[in-house]
Amino acid sequence: MGRVLIKNIGCLQTPEGSYSHKGSKQGENKKYINAEIAIEDGVIVEIKSGGRKVSGPFDEEIDAEGKLVTPGLVDGHTHMVFGGYRQHEVAMKLAGADYLDILRAGGGILDTVRKTREASKEELYEKTKGFLDEMLSIGVTSCEAKSGYGLDKESEIKMLEVIGDLAEDHPMDVVPTFLGPHAVPPEYEGRGDEYIEMTCQEILPEIRKRNLAVYCDVFCEDSVFNAEQSRKYLTCARDMGFGLKVHADEIEAIGGTELAGELEAASAEHLIAITESGMDAMAKGGVTAMCLPATSFYLNKTFAPAKEMIEKGIPVAMASDFNPGSCPSLNLQFVINLGCLKYKLTPEEVLTAVTINPACAIGLGEKVGTAEVGKQADLVIWNAPDFEMICYRFGSNMVDRVIKKGSLVTA
Ligand code: NIG
Ligand code: FE
Repeated sequence: MGRVLIKNIGCLQTPEGSYSHKGSKQGENKKYINAEIAIEDGVIVEIKSGGRKVSGPFDEEIDAEGKLVTPGLVDGHTHMVFGGYRQHEVAMKLAGADYLDILRAGGGILDTVRKTREASKEELYEKTKGFLDEMLSIGVTSCEAKSGYGLDKESEIKMLEVIGDLAEDHPMDVVPTFLGPHAVPPEYEGRGDEYIEMTCQEILPEIRKRNLAVYCDVFCEDSVFNAEQSRKYLTCARDMGFGLKVHADEIEAIGGTELAGELEAASAEHLIAITESGMDAMAKGGVTAMCLPATSFYLNKTFAPAKEMIEKGIPVAMASDFNPGSCPSLNLQFVINLGCLKYKLTPEEVLTAVTINPACAIGLGEKVGTAEVGKQADLVIWNAPDFEMICYRFGSNMVDRVIKKGSLVTA
C-alpha cells in the first residue's frame, strides 16, 4: 500500500482524542483549512493546514478538490443480518397497529425470526454484504452488527458466523454483538425466565469459547424482557467478559437505563422514553447514549432528549438502528439531518455523535472515529465545502469518495 497523499482538502473537520466526548467536549471539532494528510500503510502519519505541505515522497495521490473531509462515519447500532423483509407491516400500520401490537400478535421481530431461521448462511452472507457495500458508499467505514433474529443456539450462532466472516472479508470494520434476548422465541412463549436461563447456560459459553461476539445486548421492554431478566442476562455476560449494551426505554421506561448505569454498560440504546432517573444513572455510570432518530421517525414516536443528555454530561452517539421492522434504512446521512432538526444538536455535536462517540461505544475508539496522527486512515471526501452542508441537504448521497485504511473504496 505504501504512502498516500490526500491533497487539496478545503476543510478537514474532526473531533480529537480517543475517548467518549461529553458535555461541552461533544461540540468541539478541530477544523483544518486548506489541508493535506499523509498516510503510511493505512495509518495517518501527518496533517498540515494553511497551505503547508506534508513530507513526501508518495506512491499515490488523492486530490480532494477543495472539498470537505471528515473521519469515516461509525454506525454503532444495526441489526443488519436478517431473512426476508416486512413490507406488509406498512398496511398493518396504516390500519392502526402499533409496533408492540404487531410483536404481541406473533409478527414483527418474530416474523423475521422465522425467515432468518429458514435462510442459509450463504444467503444471509450475500444479503448482508450488499448492505455493507451500501453503507460504505454513504460514508460509513465502521459499524456494529447485532444477532437476535435466531433466538435459538444454532440460528444465533449462524448469524454471528456471518458477521464474523464479513468482518474478515469486507473492508468495513464490523463489531459483533450477541442479542439473543431480542424477543421470547415461540418455543418459550410465556417462559421468558427459562429462555434467559438457557441463553446464559447454553449459548453464551459457546459464543465466549469461539469469540463470536464482543458485546451482549438485551431488549429490555414492556412485553419483552423485564429489568430483572435483563439484569440476570447482563450480569452473566459481564462475568464472562463481554461488554454490555441495553435496548432501553425505547417505548416504555421499565428500568433499562437505570440498569445500564448500574452495570456501567458501554451504551444504552433508543432512550425515547428515558426519565430523569435513567439519565442520572447513565451519567453516573459513564454510559453512552446511542440515540436512533430514524427509528423515532419511522415509528412516528417522539425523539430522545439528546440535547438534555449532553447537558447532563452523557456522551451522545447516533446510529441508524438498521433493521427490517422499526427502521428499514441504513442511511446515516439522514440520521445526521435528524440530529440537527429533531435533537437540535449543532453540526459539531452531530459529527462527534456519528464518529468518535459511537467508535468508543463499540470498542474502536483507539483506532477510528477521528482524523488524527496514529489513527486508521478512514476518511470521507464530501461533495460539500463544510459539514453544515451535510446537515442541511437531505435525501441525496452527499459522498464524493470514501477512503478505508488509506485506500479508495468508492470512486
Ligand atoms: O432496535 N427494538 C428492538 N429491536 C429493533 C427492532 C427489530 C425489529 O423490529 O425487527 C430496534 O428497533
Ligand atoms: Fe435496535
